[in-house]
Amino acid sequence: MKLLLIGGGGREHALAWALTRSPRLKKLFCAPGNAGTARLAENVAIQATQIERLVEFAQANEIDLTIVGPEQPIALGIYDAFSRVSLKIAAPSKRAALLETSKANAKEFMSKYEIPTARFGVFADYERACAFLDQLAPPVVIKADGLAAGKGVVIAPTRAAAEQTLRQFLVERRFGEASRRVVLEEYLSGREFSLFIASDGQSWCYLGTAQDYKRRGEGDRGLNTGGMGAVSPVPWLSDQMLSQTQQQIVRPTFAGLAREGIRYQGILYFGLIWTAGGPQLLEYNVRFGDPETQALVPRFDFDLLELFQRIVEGRLAGFTCRLKPKTAVCVVAISQGYPGSYEMGKPISGLENQVEQPDLFIFHAGTARNDGRLVSAGGRVLSTVGLAASLAEARAKAYRALQKISFAGMGHRRDIGN
Ligand SMILES: Nc1ncnc2c1ncn2[C@@H]1O[C@H](COP(=O)(O)OP(=O)(O)O)[C@@H](O)[C@H]1O
Ligand SMILES: [Mg+2]
Repeated sequence: MKLLLIGGGGREHALAWALTRSPRLKKLFCAPGNAGTARLAENVAIQATQIERLVEFAQANEIDLTIVGPEQPIALGIYDAFSRVSLKIAAPSKRAALLETSKANAKEFMSKYEIPTARFGVFADYERACAFLDQLAPPVVIKADGLAAGKGVVIAPTRAAAEQTLRQFLVERRFGEASRRVVLEEYLSGREFSLFIASDGQSWCYLGTAQDYKRRGEGDRGLNTGGMGAVSPVPWLSDQMLSQTQQQIVRPTFAGLAREGIRYQGILYFGLIWTAGGPQLLEYNVRFGDPETQALVPRFDFDLLELFQRIVEGRLAGFTCRLKPKTAVCVVAISQGYPGSYEMGKPISGLENQVEQPDLFIFHAGTARNDGRLVSAGGRVLSTVGLAASLAEARAKAYRALQKISFAGMGHRRDIGN
């Protein structure tokens, strides 16, 4: 099979690694890819959001199947554009993607299908939103309706702070059209975790759980980032808790999608929180997470290409997504200053002399080749992933590998998997 993988981060390098292990693969293209995918695939200089160019490329190169990493092309309707010309693509439709691209839509879906989630209201009007604050004790959570690159959620500790944020979102339109409406919701306390499911539109298959580390600093302090690390599976989530989550949240989600007539063909990522009252759904994402995928994929004990093939062909029933009984720890190396401004083009050393080890992975994110030299080309540069029978071993493996890698200003969190 000839495959096109869309995206250029660590998630896509991990997916590319798994796809190239499939005996079904004949040729892999990655658009735009990074220096890591370049070793496994042929990188194509088309951005993930250039939908028409991707369609043309897929047609010209007779691509059998396209796989999409990031949310932006899905939000732009890449499924619909590919399907119109009968190209096979493993991604949900633009309509299905509303579960991620509109938080108001997602919350209304959750409440319609009685999926446990924080009490909420949806508002376009500032005064009405403020009036709803009477019904919520602070802190409250304010979410821009549309995609805001992970920056659209504010936890307001006081009523005054909530009103200020509502003003910034609704009146000043901080996120433009994306904050024309907001979701205002009750604050839940508990422990967060992510759960991944593959769906072919009729059947679905459990792909595992992960915990990510969003804050820059140790102990979950500091600014929010795209993700500083991940662990899979979630160490504190028991089998009983997992089955309760599937029963109360995953099942009604797919029942709801069926009722709405939405054929969901792709990956669905549930952002959850375990509260005193059990699992509650914070959000849906209509794709794999980054860096959760880097920790998830090495645990897959099945052919990932076959999974995607079955997704697009509606043949997921009976397929078991077997997972290795091992834990993976992923630690991300970042550029100095990230998530603020940072410099790129720093030569990266220590990768060439890394001894190949089983169950140790190095996934590139923001990397490029400059005159043959490997250099940084983004905020999150690369990650190391250790896979082992225990969390402690996996952790030690990932950190040992990271310690051999360096570039000017390289940073990372020291407490991933602690
Ligand atoms: N109701 C809530 N109670 C407590 N924390 C929340 C709530 N909703 C969101 N959060 C926090 O905000 C983060 C981002 O919210 P989320 O809905 O996942 O949006 P996004 O990932 O699109 O920014 C969550 O990971 C969680 O830490
Ligand atoms: Mg989230």
